[in-house]
Amino acid sequence: MAIRHFSTTTRKEIDVELNVKEGAIPDDLCGFIFINSAAGTVNSDGLPYPQYNPDGTENQEYASPILNGDGKVYRLDLTQSGKIRVKTGIMKTPCYYADLATAYNTKADNPYYDFHFESRGLARLSSTLGTRNQLNTAITPVRFKKDNQYRLLANFDAGRPYEIDPEKLSMITPIGENKIWHSGLPPMLVQPFPMILSSAHPVFDPDTEELFTVNFTKDNEGLMGSTNIFKLLFEDLDWFKSELEKLMDDIKILSKEEQRKRIRSFFGSSKMKNRNTDKGWFRKFMNFIKRLFGKWYYTHISNHDDVYVVKWNGTKELQKWKIVDENGEGILIQHNMHQISLSKDYLILGDTNFKFSLDGIMNFPFTNDPFIDKIVRELLTDPMNDYSSFYIVKRADLIPGVTNVKAVKAVLPEETVHFSANYENPGNKITLYAAHNCSACPAEWLRTYDTRQIEPEIPMDEEFLGLISIGEVDISKIGKIILNADTGQLEPESVFLELTGDLDQKDPGAHTWAVGLYTYNNMLSSDTNVANIDYMYWQAYGLHRKWLTEFIYDLYKDPKRNRTYSAEEMEAFTAKGANFVLECIETSSMTATDHFTFPENYYYWSLQFAPKKEKSLTIADGKNGYIFTTVICGEMTGNNEITYNPEIWIFDAANLNPGPVCKLNHPELSFGFTIHSVWTAEAGEVASPGYGIDIRDDYNYMVDQIKDTKLRSSIQQFMNEKVYPFFPNK
Ligand SMILES: [Fe+2]
Repeated sequence: MAIRHFSTTTRKEIDVELNVKEGAIPDDLCGFIFINSAAGTVNSDGLPYPQYNPDGTENQEYASPILNGDGKVYRLDLTQSGKIRVKTGIMKTPCYYADLATAYNTKADNPYYDFHFESRGLARLSSTLGTRNQLNTAITPVRFKKDNQYRLLANFDAGRPYEIDPEKLSMITPIGENKIWHSGLPPMLVQPFPMILSSAHPVFDPDTEELFTVNFTKDNEGLMGSTNIFKLLFEDLDWFKSELEKLMDDIKILSKEEQRKRIRSFFGSSKMKNRNTDKGWFRKFMNFIKRLFGKWYYTHISNHDDVYVVKWNGTKELQKWKIVDENGEGILIQHNMHQISLSKDYLILGDTNFKFSLDGIMNFPFTNDPFIDKIVRELLTDPMNDYSSFYIVKRADLIPGVTNVKAVKAVLPEETVHFSANYENPGNKITLYAAHNCSACPAEWLRTYDTRQIEPEIPMDEEFLGLISIGEVDISKIGKIILNADTGQLEPESVFLELTGDLDQKDPGAHTWAVGLYTYNNMLSSDTNVANIDYMYWQAYGLHRKWLTEFIYDLYKDPKRNRTYSAEEMEAFTAKGANFVLECIETSSMTATDHFTFPENYYYWSLQFAPKKEKSLTIADGKNGYIFTTVICGEMTGNNEITYNPEIWIFDAANLNPGPVCKLNHPELSFGFTIHSVWTAEAGEVASPGYGIDIRDDYNYMVDQIKDTKLRSSIQQFMNEKVYPFFPNK
């Protein structure tokens, strides 16, 4: 029997009716579910990433994060009684076609091969063309009343949102021309595909028909984050690598502790200082340039620390406002702005603990040299903050023509990645529900040289290579945070819920070990704002000894971190283990009212509330529907190996504990790692889009800024031949 891998997915676009494996499809379903996911690159034809290229050479993408791949959207059609159809589409942006035209299999005779993209940590980069906008993370539905139909945006943290067709899953238009977005890379790096640092979660207000998102930049110093070798990695890679190799040869026979000492002294040596970088002469030089040339520096060398709110009303040009702190200064985003949310009167912008910043992105320079890669990771990687910062913007201050808008800063005493707000904010108090992923790292992934913290003699399971958020060194929490929007202070009735369950039981019950995503009725609805969220459905990954790496343990073991449990206690909890759980939280009391524990070796990634066609009058609105999940089912084979099969499971939202009411599969259904999802009532073809950017004009604007005339001409030709033909003139 052929083994199916944990992350197996294909890029084949399908449109099939799912088979019922167990149970029955509920007869009161309606609408559509969209699920976004990452599905490998133009080279891999899906996941997992193979270790070798077809020509036998080592594959640069092997063991790269499975999150780093082209967006593949799944559309579940729930409108036909007794049937569920699934349709998939790859997000084929202009940069997708640039990637395709320079794929590895063209290497032998492709004059443009030098432009090719490589996977670098969480991003996919080409040194000449720029950054891929993979659109693999989330979907935001929007519905402007004039349209009389639902529209969808596919989103990514390092790119602008892109409108897609809900029926065909094809590309319609990017939102906002390139010229209005600020590139996250320093201005001296002019590339046709800019790295636009935005949010994977733009938010739409159906009452006011406004879509909001963000765009932020960092000064070079902030951009470089924790590292002082960033410049070397970027500009002097060969020299750096050869020096590091010499060092590695010298220290091979030493103890680990001695090796670390020698490596640290290597980076502090005069040889390195003479060569580099931001903490030595480079930083002094840059400070001198900044003082001397002020405006010139920020025009040509570095961005400012700036945050912009961007608004789209569905048709015209985007509006944007620079958001400043209480002193009128630009805001430095420490990690990224993965999540934003809105209430009736406020936008809530998160500096979320998901380090999609440049230093994190570059944290994978020697993909084919694990020994050096490991050393560099240790030097480059810092733990994320053990708190999170929020910026509260009064929506009434976002007036056309006003340039700078002040935000009120709030600091939460917990790490935060995802959050949602009640629409109502009575007395200027905002209620947020948040996933606090404490001492867990969504921006780190399992690498080939990782070792287990528990039972280190057992090798890591290769099936999980590239998986993110693996292992945690504290318990996560589900927050109900009441923020005073005028002061940024937390009100005392805020709750940070942590549930351990009983780890001595086979079914520990509801728990918050590694909380992940969540869903609720009308979450992200483009028809209605949710005044007060009443029931939420949460995912928690659990505790898995096979997932906790020595690296993550060491990174987050510091007893000085704000934490509930010590690293040693977490090791003991992890040794006991807990499986994935789906649980219902009633928000007024912040208690778990229902849960389902998945079997061992079963994993689920996305969860989505789908309301019933006809509401049951006896059930609260927040539970009046079904929860759809994408499940990877691991089953032992006769050879004592595990084979993993993808299934869609449907739960009755009012009764999770007995398990799914229906399990569905199909031989052509495949998914590796699915991410965010959304439900919409309708999903028709956009016959005549009311908004569209001309791709040629948009990218020619970027190409025209390339100063090297020979390179500019070559890139222009490449765009003309390989990219533009896929996009009709507007
Ligand atoms: Fe997200």
